[in-house]
Amino acid sequence: MMTVEAENVAVDPIYQVPKRLLDKASAPTPYVDSFEKYQELWKQSVEDPDTFFSNLSKELLSWSKPFTTVRSGGFEQGDVAWFLEGELNASYNCVDRHALANPNKIAIIHEGDEPNSVRNITYGELLQEVSRLANVLKSLGVRKGDNIAIYMPMIPEAVVALLACARIGAVHSVVFAGFSSDSLRDRIVDASAKVVLTADEGKRGGKAIATKRIVDQALLTAPSVESVLVFRRTGADVPWTNGRDLWWHDEMAKARPYCAPEPMNAEDPLFLLYTSGSTGTPKGVMHTTGGYLLGAGATVKYIFDYHPDDIFACMADIGWITGHTYIVYGPLTLGATTLLFESTPTYPTPSRFWEVVQQHKVTQFYTAPTAIRALRRLGDKWLDGYDLSTLRVIGSVGEPINPEAWEWYNEMVGKKNCAVVDTYWQTETGSIIVTPLPGAIATKPGSATFPFFGIKPVILDPTSGKELEGNDVTGVLAVAQPWPSMARTVYNNHHRYLDTYLRPYKGYYFTGDGASRDKDGYIWIRGRVDDVINVSGHRLSTAEIESALILHHSVAEAAVIGGHDDLTGQCIHAFTTLKPNIEDSEGLEKELALQVRKVIGPFATPKAIYCVNDLPKTRSGKIMRRILRKIVNNEADQLGDTSTLADPSVVDMLIEKVKSSQ
Ligand code: WTA
Repeated sequence: MMTVEAENVAVDPIYQVPKRLLDKASAPTPYVDSFEKYQELWKQSVEDPDTFFSNLSKELLSWSKPFTTVRSGGFEQGDVAWFLEGELNASYNCVDRHALANPNKIAIIHEGDEPNSVRNITYGELLQEVSRLANVLKSLGVRKGDNIAIYMPMIPEAVVALLACARIGAVHSVVFAGFSSDSLRDRIVDASAKVVLTADEGKRGGKAIATKRIVDQALLTAPSVESVLVFRRTGADVPWTNGRDLWWHDEMAKARPYCAPEPMNAEDPLFLLYTSGSTGTPKGVMHTTGGYLLGAGATVKYIFDYHPDDIFACMADIGWITGHTYIVYGPLTLGATTLLFESTPTYPTPSRFWEVVQQHKVTQFYTAPTAIRALRRLGDKWLDGYDLSTLRVIGSVGEPINPEAWEWYNEMVGKKNCAVVDTYWQTETGSIIVTPLPGAIATKPGSATFPFFGIKPVILDPTSGKELEGNDVTGVLAVAQPWPSMARTVYNNHHRYLDTYLRPYKGYYFTGDGASRDKDGYIWIRGRVDDVINVSGHRLSTAEIESALILHHSVAEAAVIGGHDDLTGQCIHAFTTLKPNIEDSEGLEKELALQVRKVIGPFATPKAIYCVNDLPKTRSGKIMRRILRKIVNNEADQLGDTSTLADPSVVDMLIEKVKSSQ
């Protein structure tokens, strides 16, 4: 199946596994080193998941009490559970067992915002720090099952914060530090978080971020919070609330550097992570301890072909699922050295990534298509002279990668000598679900290729919900059976969990993405089919942005859609109608963009805002976003049937408006 007929080559080039990976002299032997071996393992994993995952969980995790049942429940009731009677602690698995065996091994390399500001933390030190913070949290009254909000820059203390929560069975909810105070407040309130862990300021790309001030603003209307623990990152003067705010270093100095890990049931929650869905309010996706940790460890081992001396660099932010799984839980479960990057790909120059790879001898490098596209556009010269020869596996995540960006990554970064893994997954899947395996799967630029172990992907007809069998089919992507690291619920809202993922197509987990399986069986992700937009790999719902706009006193109605953008994948276009007697002006459009920044965060700023007289609506008043999408993406000639519009003449007005703003 891996041989390509000559006539297809021009259409879909196939890249065989790079020779270097299979050559014992130049790389450790990949765990899965042939396509046949992959197929055999995958078959076992979906046909007999009990045996497969029981063995894998014993190999990769340390259990304080063994499980007897591997798996129960299913998609029908949304009661999936794995390793039911088993007990383990995620922080023990990520820290203690490695600290005991190898205390001087580096757990975290922190590459600070400024070049050459590096801090290394060994497993021995990590155990002490995590223990201390766990004791501090206990002294603040935090107990097993309490929710803790983490709003921190990309510093080692953020990793310590996650693991300290896990150690005492508190449930962390990390909020990406680019979110506004309103967004932070909503997440704190939804989870009734008791404590917030934060810093005085963040630093990114040479600029300071007023982290503590944002927290203070959020807490004006978040009554559940009793304490705020503040790490001193820059030493800036920050506002202080006596009785609530505490300095991290003061409390840590008082705490004992050992804390016994709390035994957790495999199904006890490990964390919440809020993510955007089709409707307005973000949902608190809940992951549990055993299954999630297994997914995290297994994917780092097999998809990144992690070997003991490797240096693993995932350039994501801890505030997103990619940071949770591939900076913290996955690499640390395996006892790896993980790199934490505080800066941006272009600070101080677009060579920064390559400087980092060279300096720290990175072996696995994981980033997003947006970064790859931006660096490609800035020119190849920024890679000149850098030694990237330690790299073996380079990964991409977060959005579809266009073949041009894939080819550039493969040639300029991988030097055609690395496995390129285009990894598809979601906050809800916990870990990667569709991906190449470095030593086993030949790749096609732009395709995430084949399912990971335990994943049985299906392509469904979006209307009938029937499985589209065989190859050369397009539809929506679903998964046919439960896997260990899937989310178990939406916090305090199991209905929403069922409605979003398990009810749209009965008996399946629905991803919300469109996908094709090509003639060779390769999976191609086509992007979201719901109202979620993906800007630079950041997931946003159109409804969330619309609500932010409507909060502005001038706005009557808003409709937001995703436009195509060469750099960011998608970008936000917002159409608004104004309240009577309000005049459209450039100033107002700017003000509305600011409004979205303020309510959600800078990364959600619309690329274009159009104040218009009317929106395209059906006679029953439903906004037809499809029409807006076509107009913005220069497909106004393919609008299709507009006769269902209450007033078809709005279309010309909209086309005119968009044209004049371009
Ligand atoms: C998209 C990020 C194409 C997809 C890990 C998914 C991708 C959403 C890929 C989840 C990929 C992620 N190819 N699309 N390799 N990876 N996506 O929850 O639309 O932030 O549903 O998780 O990103 O975004 P989330």
